[in-house]
Amino acid sequence: IRPIRDLEIENKRVFIRVDFNVPLDENGAITDDSRIREALPTIKHALERGARVILASHLGRPKPGKMTDAELKKLSLEPCGSHLAGLLGTEVMMPEDCVGDAAKKVVYDLRAGQVCLLENLRFHAEEEKNDEAFARELAEHAEVYVDDAFGAVHRAHASVHGMAKTFRDRGCGFLLEKEILALGKLVTAPDKPYVAVLGGAKVSDKIAVLEALLQKVDALLIGGAMANTFLAAKGLNLQASKIETDKLPLARTILEKARELKVDVVLPTDVVVAGSLGASSGQVVNAGAVPEGTMALDIGPSSLRDFTQRFVKAKTVFWNGPMGLFEKEPFAAGTFGVARALAESSAFTVVGGGDSAAAVYAAGDAVAKKMGHISTGGGASLELIEGKKLPGIEVLRRPE
Ligand code: 3PG
Repeated sequence: IRPIRDLEIENKRVFIRVDFNVPLDENGAITDDSRIREALPTIKHALERGARVILASHLGRPKPGKMTDAELKKLSLEPCGSHLAGLLGTEVMMPEDCVGDAAKKVVYDLRAGQVCLLENLRFHAEEEKNDEAFARELAEHAEVYVDDAFGAVHRAHASVHGMAKTFRDRGCGFLLEKEILALGKLVTAPDKPYVAVLGGAKVSDKIAVLEALLQKVDALLIGGAMANTFLAAKGLNLQASKIETDKLPLARTILEKARELKVDVVLPTDVVVAGSLGASSGQVVNAGAVPEGTMALDIGPSSLRDFTQRFVKAKTVFWNGPMGLFEKEPFAAGTFGVARALAESSAFTVVGGGDSAAAVYAAGDAVAKKMGHISTGGGASLELIEGKKLPGIEVLRRPE
């Protein structure tokens, strides 16, 4: 895959697929701009080299034809464009669509060193269908194609896949390159001991990644609501805790497989419980003694110590998924504790995107800076760890 630094882009119209799918609050303000900031090196490089830069992204999951205009408007990329203009200190032109005459006019009027951001690609249902005619229309905007949208490379969509293959001059941006290197190392040659820590709500979301990790890691640490299902599979009574009862047999199979492969599975020995999700405080109890009517909402301090000890000895750590309901202060200690312990570890630490990346940023700049790599991709980072071939990456490969 050719990185942007090796592509001829001077004075050319360069289409850069970015992932500006950022979280917005109810007023439409961006609550975490890391995906925009992470795209800056590629955008700045292109502008400094005198390219005419056309940025495109999706935002959310609009359903054109099924949503009202007002609902669709909330998924406009306008806030991202304004924010980007502030970060770059330059004007960002924003046509009101990603294809059609208005978009063409803006694109063809761009001068070297100027940038535009097309409107949400998913305002056209053809984007997700990887529609050929739509891909061609997008491709007509540019002479060079660069993908820097790591978060979207697992989607075979028109802007990620269909249009990319029509370009002779295509390659990856700095963010995509960095993500492939960091996550790829975990798949091909992780330094051992390799420890994975998984959390989040559901075992069902992580089956494929659990199975793939079992083949690679020395220890698998499990927290979050996911751990409840594993604890229940071992016969513990978790009372009112969230458990996926239909996944109990699967959890047992995974535990059995781990034994065969000599992978240590470390489950919480203590948990923080409360009577409801809205409780203002929690109580630390042994994982085997959850009081009736309460539910586990975080890992406890002894579990955090067990996890931390594993990080001290590890050379590689992959983390995906929070340890509990970290958005609520009484249940945040486990997740922030893992983030701080990873920041102190000398291992190469890779944090999967989504909630765990948000938790690391919420733990503060000092913690975030010490991570080896914080991925901007949620689903994409998991699929890469699973060893899958991702359409948005494969399409960039060229017969050399
Ligand atoms: C993400 O947020 O993981 C990416 O932007 C992909 O979004 P999607 O899951 O809606 O395709």
